[in-house]
Amino acid sequence: MLVSAEEMLKKAKAGKYAVGQFNINNLEWTKAILLTAQELNSPVILGVSEGAGKYMAGYKTVVGMVNGMLEELNITVPVALHLDHGSYDGCMKCIEAGFSSVMFDGSHYPIEENIAKTTELINITREKGMSLEAEVGSIGGEEDGVVGKGECADPNECKSIADLGVTMLAAGIGNIHGKYPANWEGLSFETLDAIQQLTGEMPLVLHGGTGIPEDMIKKAISLGVAKINVNTECQLAFAAATRGYVEAGKDLEGKGFDPRKLLAPGFEAIKATVKEKMELFGSVGKAC
Ligand code: 13P
Repeated sequence: MLVSAEEMLKKAKAGKYAVGQFNINNLEWTKAILLTAQELNSPVILGVSEGAGKYMAGYKTVVGMVNGMLEELNITVPVALHLDHGSYDGCMKCIEAGFSSVMFDGSHYPIEENIAKTTELINITREKGMSLEAEVGSIGGEEDGVVGKGECADPNECKSIADLGVTMLAAGIGNIHGKYPANWEGLSFETLDAIQQLTGEMPLVLHGGTGIPEDMIKKAISLGVAKINVNTECQLAFAAATRGYVEAGKDLEGKGFDPRKLLAPGFEAIKATVKEKMELFGSVGKAC
């Protein structure tokens, strides 16, 4: 059964480790992540962006697929199904479809409007026993043409949103989505430290987990990050493994064109990436 991310993140924050949010794109992705979490006895959060939700034929399809896998694959570790960077409408749709967690990304609104919309969603998600992630200070990315330092959140604004009673808080600390440019200045630990001082026990979320050096990940966890989002790294691993298979001409050998064979190296590559991240984040063996 899907669970809210609240308990797993409270434990992570107290135990000084982080739970990985791995974004899903299709059945292979979902199965690879769930099986790895089970093998490593780790809690896990499956992230679904609005675009990926649409691609997978809608939120209800996603809920059906994930719930089916939990049962048929005997997944017993805590799993949260979470909307990533949701709009207000997207959150409402996922709440109705059976997600166990949503992120409302109100970072592009003026802070007053972010507060008002986040408050409404707190009331709705609380009633349903779901977790809610809010965001302060937008997180850049290549797709937005941002190639420099990601934005840093105002720690006081973070406190205002945390005090509303959200479950977890994403704050920009110089992180960006996608691959980091060569001239990236790194995470702003000064900002993270200031945010944690003001928000106390609130589990903090680090977006843009792809390509952040290991020492920075560890330091971020020591400063209160309890959830780390990874998306691009699984995509790169999947693409490289699939490319290797095709370039080696394996799809032309025997029944190598069978999708169950063609997609197998990519599936294994996702499993290896997720394992590496869970080990780095310290969530292995923490599912109970
Ligand atoms: P990356 O694609 O950079 O790993 O970021 C993932 C993310 O933050 C999803 O919200």
